Amino acid sequence: MPSGMPSSAPPPSPGKALNPEQPLNPEQPLNLEQQSPAWWQSGVIYQIYPLSFADSNGDGIGDLAGIRARLGHLAALGVDAVWISPIYPSPMADFGYDVCDYCAVDPRFGTLDDFAALVAEAHARGLRVLLDFIPNHSSDQHPWFVEARSSRQNPKRDWYLWHDAAPGGGPPNNWLSEFGGPAWHWDEATGQYYLHSFLKEQPDLNWRNPEVRRAMLAVLSFWLELGVDGFRVDAIHHLFKDSEWRDNPRNPEYRPGMAPRRQLLRRYTTDLPEIHDAVREMRGLLDRQGGERLLIGEAHLPFARLVAYYGERLDGFHLPFNFHLIGAAWEAGALQALITQYEAALPAGAWPNWVLGNHDRSRIASRIGAAQARVAALLLCTLRGTPTLYYGDEIGMRDVPIRPDQVHDPFEKNVPGLGLGRDPERTPMQWSAQAHAGFSSAPPWLPVASDYAQVNVERQEQDPSSLLALYRALLALRRKETALSLGSYAALDVKAPLLGYLRTHGQRRIGVLLNTSAALQRRGVPSAFRRERVLLSTHVGRSGGALGADLLPDEAVAFSPT
Ligand code: GLC
Repeated sequence: MPSGMPSSAPPPSPGKALNPEQPLNPEQPLNLEQQSPAWWQSGVIYQIYPLSFADSNGDGIGDLAGIRARLGHLAALGVDAVWISPIYPSPMADFGYDVCDYCAVDPRFGTLDDFAALVAEAHARGLRVLLDFIPNHSSDQHPWFVEARSSRQNPKRDWYLWHDAAPGGGPPNNWLSEFGGPAWHWDEATGQYYLHSFLKEQPDLNWRNPEVRRAMLAVLSFWLELGVDGFRVDAIHHLFKDSEWRDNPRNPEYRPGMAPRRQLLRRYTTDLPEIHDAVREMRGLLDRQGGERLLIGEAHLPFARLVAYYGERLDGFHLPFNFHLIGAAWEAGALQALITQYEAALPAGAWPNWVLGNHDRSRIASRIGAAQARVAALLLCTLRGTPTLYYGDEIGMRDVPIRPDQVHDPFEKNVPGLGLGRDPERTPMQWSAQAHAGFSSAPPWLPVASDYAQVNVERQEQDPSSLLALYRALLALRRKETALSLGSYAALDVKAPLLGYLRTHGQRRIGVLLNTSAALQRRGVPSAFRRERVLLSTHVGRSGGALGADLLPDEAVAFSPT
């Protein structure tokens, strides 16, 4: 057993992309197509926002023991891995994305022992566990920053990004924080500004300092040794900033009402070339650990820039998260264009992925409505590439309206009223019709949706026509049909509001047609497919029957010749 493997072995995988015993040979590009597929290629990822998933100790906040108690739900759903948003000690200025100890668990969530127990049980159930890694910034309460701000001479000073005031006073340049206001905060005691790409409570680390790099890579090793199966790396496009501190140019497309940071184009503050070296180091570390550890990157970039994060030799992220479905207009032409562009942009051998929702964006059921959320489920689970599901989307949870006095998210507090707040999509998981939706025995930190008595896991488990039942069926079909999990993709020539494609693996070919409208599509099915069999439809009664010529309102189908 390679060092660092958990005592409970990780789940069996269909094959190995890498030999765990052997470090990557940097001279030899990794060609995934020549290897047997890795677990994360055929697998499905599920994001847990731990504050809101399940509360085991009645304090109104989710925790690790709560997650552990609910692993049965994830196994029954049929996902392969859970990515847990930050669980580290944190003052919670940004709800865990402000870390004050990278190698511990916040007492709100439990202990390291609770975490080990969670990993062991997840592995025993065939589920992998991915953690959030937040390299761009720490908390201002992190001992490193406390030291750094103690004096200009402190050895940790250079671990963060400091700058004198501009000649006439004021911040050194025009850089803006993602959460509104300048990206610089004046430190009275030492008479310099420090940089924070997000909140002032989240000072940016200096990745040009080799000690910072070493310390942060050691964090990855710490968790890998505990048996973690990989990481989602936070805000990676921010990791380096221009060393000449040049002003960002104005954004001609900015209009009032947009997030204030969009006043500027982030030319000198995001997506700098140095980032790729750092990612390669992270990846090398995971590969040397063996066991098919997965590295996912969060970068909000156009496709052409995003795909560079696979690395020149596919030695960067296994999966640079593809968020483009989240912002897309829900319209067949726009979706088709997006899929085509993404497929075309992917470098040879790079594995695609799709994300429909996360803790930063409005929920899918709120964006497109309950009926189309079913269509979206079928799309997500049948496109080529690894899908990531956001907790609660499998039951159609909606954004919950948050009264001003209930706001927690600092983004909403800093920039109120623009609809930028992220609390609505972070509300407690709706497990049952019991008090507090079965999430907790106490009033939760964020309000529970008013429809929880109808929209909850327990109820949907009993209902074959529920969204949960659809997701379970979809993931089961995906697991059974290699054409869906690993097959090639080819667009079908159908007219809006229909969207269609074929997924093929060997002799097996599965077709997918989606009606993105609430209107019946009479004779919308191309004649070549009308005699084929429906493998799965958003409309339960249709599964198993002949496809026929029409697509029902809000219907999506997967079908095959036999
Ligand atoms: C990422 C996270 C977001 C967080 C930010 C700062 O975008 O997804 O929730 O606020 O980084 O860490």
